[in-house]
Amino acid sequence: MTSIRNIMILTGAGVSAESGIDTFRDSGGLWEKHRVEDVATPEAFARDPELVLRFYDMRRAAIQTKQPNAAHAALARLEAEWPERVPGGTVTLVTQNVDDLHDRAGSRNLIHMHGEHLNAWCTACDERVPWRAPLLDRPACPACGVPALRPDIVWFGEMPYRMEDIYGALREADLFVSIGTSGAVYPAAGLVRGARDVGARTLELNLEPSQGSAWFDEARHGPATQVVPAWVEEMLSGG
Ligand code: OAD
Repeated sequence: MTSIRNIMILTGAGVSAESGIDTFRDSGGLWEKHRVEDVATPEAFARDPELVLRFYDMRRAAIQTKQPNAAHAALARLEAEWPERVPGGTVTLVTQNVDDLHDRAGSRNLIHMHGEHLNAWCTACDERVPWRAPLLDRPACPACGVPALRPDIVWFGEMPYRMEDIYGALREADLFVSIGTSGAVYPAAGLVRGARDVGARTLELNLEPSQGSAWFDEARHGPATQVVPAWVEEMLSGG
């Protein structure tokens, strides 16, 4: 444990499940109710923008009624207290989640690799602006005035954000922890292999074994609100 200095954590929808936000691939998940090709690709947006904007307007409204849970809180606590336990140690949190529950729980060294529901992206001037309201009525971009805002979500076929920062942090990592993600979507799903390549220890915390479970040195299975606080407590107490 003492040899661990820098920690990289990758989270997915399972971290927010107990806050009441649907996951994607579990039974009853979002991709059972909606076809990815209808709502989560640039082609879908070009073909039927109303359908896509309505889908994300509903999701944006829904997350604003949800609260961070004990797993989000524990990860924020780890980031704040880890440098007291290991001077100079860092915690980098990379999330695939487009909700703002990690932000609201207090995580600061946080990368939203798949975008954020509470941002809009102007396809006319390329600005990203904080956004909480619907986009269906095609509001003007606050920066340039053109009604060309879209959800700031990385759709299938688009490049995730800040990959250079993510790989940079991964190269420095001594421990890589994957939490609440099925390991079905690349490049996020490949980070565990990158972690192994740089000699980091790898740990999975998930409700059940994920698709990539075999790549991890260790796995602990259970609900995020239980396994994550328990693991954080262990890390901070030096267990
Ligand atoms: P998935 O829905 O694919 O996987 C969720 C994972 O969380 C599964 O492995 C579940 O077993 C686990 N899980 C469910 N409830 C849990 C709980 N209470 N505690 C712990 N684990 C739990 O979601 P992601 O892996 O996040 O992309 O999906 C990756 C990407 O695919 C998403 O970012 C999204 C989606 O298409 C975009 O929207 C761009």
